[in-house]
Amino acid sequence: MTVYNIALIGFGGVNRALAELIAAKSQLWERELGFRLNIVAVSDLYLGSVVSPNGLDAKTLIEAKFEKGGFGQLSGGNAEADNETIIKMAPADIIVEATFTNPTDGEPAVSHCRWALETGKHVVTTNKGPVAIAAQALKALATANGVRFEYEGAVMSGTPVIRMAQKTLAGAELKGFEGILNGTSNFVLGRMESGLDFASAVKEAQELGYAEADPTADVEGFDVRLKVVILANELLGAKLKPEDVTCKGISGLSLSDIEQAAKAGSRWKLVGSAVRNDDGSVTGSVAPRRLGLDHPLAGVNGATNAVSLDTELLGAVTITGPGAGRIETAYALLSDIVAIHSAGAPVIAAEAA
Ligand code: HSE
Repeated sequence: MTVYNIALIGFGGVNRALAELIAAKSQLWERELGFRLNIVAVSDLYLGSVVSPNGLDAKTLIEAKFEKGGFGQLSGGNAEADNETIIKMAPADIIVEATFTNPTDGEPAVSHCRWALETGKHVVTTNKGPVAIAAQALKALATANGVRFEYEGAVMSGTPVIRMAQKTLAGAELKGFEGILNGTSNFVLGRMESGLDFASAVKEAQELGYAEADPTADVEGFDVRLKVVILANELLGAKLKPEDVTCKGISGLSLSDIEQAAKAGSRWKLVGSAVRNDDGSVTGSVAPRRLGLDHPLAGVNGATNAVSLDTELLGAVTITGPGAGRIETAYALLSDIVAIHSAGAPVIAAEAA
């Protein structure tokens, strides 16, 4: 049985959900996936840090009192979080990066990933920032250090769009994609179709936990823009930066626009897309579009996400699924670890028993 020692950086919703899954599913994963995850360190700017080379009991961790400096009360705990020391020094094979990160510069996640890769540790992350802004550099660093940098959860949480398009559809000749890549804005448009005003619909999305801390990123398309950059660069081999993608959100749509679309047998959707041009360049955009009801994205409701991949050999292939949520995003981290395991990546710190 292979044991992967993991360090959780950030202990908000996503990494906490991963710890919950480890507590509940370890035996199942040992049987079905052939490995066990051993949490050797957790570091969080609010809670502090805790390190235990023999492994922390996931149940104790998720039941521990969560208050400022709270990890300092645990055996091996330190009230002062120091992500850099933990990332560099923890006896971990894999750094699981899920901190609150500024989407504009990708920090602190970019630094976290860099420190981990430089010290020969694999990285799995759900953060969009480091992938949209620094994927090339971080991938090069991973290769130079013989480890992997995996980030399926950066787009559509656990719904496997990146890996499916790259691996399962290899050779299908992708020409472009269109997607509903933000659950909040799709939920808001749906609620407006039921007659709710924009501000009340955004408030509901916040209460349901779909929206980013600042929902401006959701409704103005900035969140989708990062996801378009990631998908265009990963799947179409582009080298786009966020500022290369034109971006318009849904805040300019009125209830009357929504009603008129419904009367005409169509629906407004916030669509993130990219297309490969004849000269090989790639153009990306984010904009509200009025879609006919026969469009593959028109029937996507609520906070669900979907991407329709335009391929030469198969035509449109559409994948639909959750785009957010604690457990759904934690599953993406597991799928990244499965990818590392399947690639036969070396176990650095843990004993293979
Ligand atoms: N706020 C995002 C959404 C979450 O609404 O889709 C995932 O990036």
